Amino acid sequence: MSVMRDAVAIELKNLSVTYRGGEGGRTVHAVRDCSFSVARGDVLGIVGESGSGKSSVLMAIPRLLPASALVTGGIFCDGTEISSLDERGMGVWRWRRIALVPQSAMNSFTPHITIERHITEVLEHHMRTPRRDARERAEELLWTVRLDGSAGARYPHELSGGQKQRAALATALACGPDFLLADEPTTALDVITQKEVLDMTVSLVRERGMGLLLVTHDLPLAAGICDSLVVMREGAIVESGPSQQVASNPENDYTKLLIGAIRDMERPRGLEETPARKTRG
Ligand SMILES: Nc1ncnc2c1ncn2[C@@H]1O[C@H](COP(=O)(O)OP(=O)(O)O)[C@@H](O)[C@H]1O
Ligand SMILES: [Mg+2]
Repeated sequence: MSVMRDAVAIELKNLSVTYRGGEGGRTVHAVRDCSFSVARGDVLGIVGESGSGKSSVLMAIPRLLPASALVTGGIFCDGTEISSLDERGMGVWRWRRIALVPQSAMNSFTPHITIERHITEVLEHHMRTPRRDARERAEELLWTVRLDGSAGARYPHELSGGQKQRAALATALACGPDFLLADEPTTALDVITQKEVLDMTVSLVRERGMGLLLVTHDLPLAAGICDSLVVMREGAIVESGPSQQVASNPENDYTKLLIGAIRDMERPRGLEETPARKTRG
């Protein structure tokens, strides 16, 4: 693998996201001047309580935010400023270079389409893969996420939550992307299944040398599986660094609060109504 290939990274430079017409018509500054990067081969966690701007950062990358979102700053992938591409130009990057694992696989499949067909459609549409080859590839992909052969022929409602999330992972992997973006990919699952699916996601990402951006409100969970962490609060990055450092030696009081290292300190302003663990992002 060439040095150039290894250097492929997603870079965010001074990214801000503002929603017009939030609750009561007010403007919401969801993301404020955030800069960080993630290279191929890296697993980066974006953590913070519900409403801290994690999803807005993540969804800004493949430009999947609602029309009411105003995005400023630059998003670069592999040196290309993808934030300045038109919709057609962006279409080339989605799925093939940057694929999204949805927040809840429960709602991401069309009910009357089989699992296999979901995957073959992605391959046919984005890679122009002939139907026959696409079917073979779909079978391989399902096997990769340890779903047995019969899963492909089933409809979404016939799979369990964990199986569905694994099928969503297989779909995201279909075009061999450089990066996976995962927004709370397992919050709808029970704790054991959640761990299984996350471990599988991370090991596939590592095996294939992809980059992963994992959004979660659970800092201890992220610290256990990510190389580095970005801690967000009220739209801004309050701390970032190697997971070990952030988790074992946090500098910021808010980070300490998310870790659970301090329980009795006066809660930082803004946390009064939305305890980190009570709500989900
Ligand atoms: N479509 C939207 N319109 C208006 N405000 C929004 C919209 N989506 C998110 N927000 C607001 O932006 C802020 C950040 O939200 P979000 O990025 O979803 O945070 P998180 O993923 O960390 O929970 C919150 O205050 C949220 O209410
Ligand atoms: Mg969110």
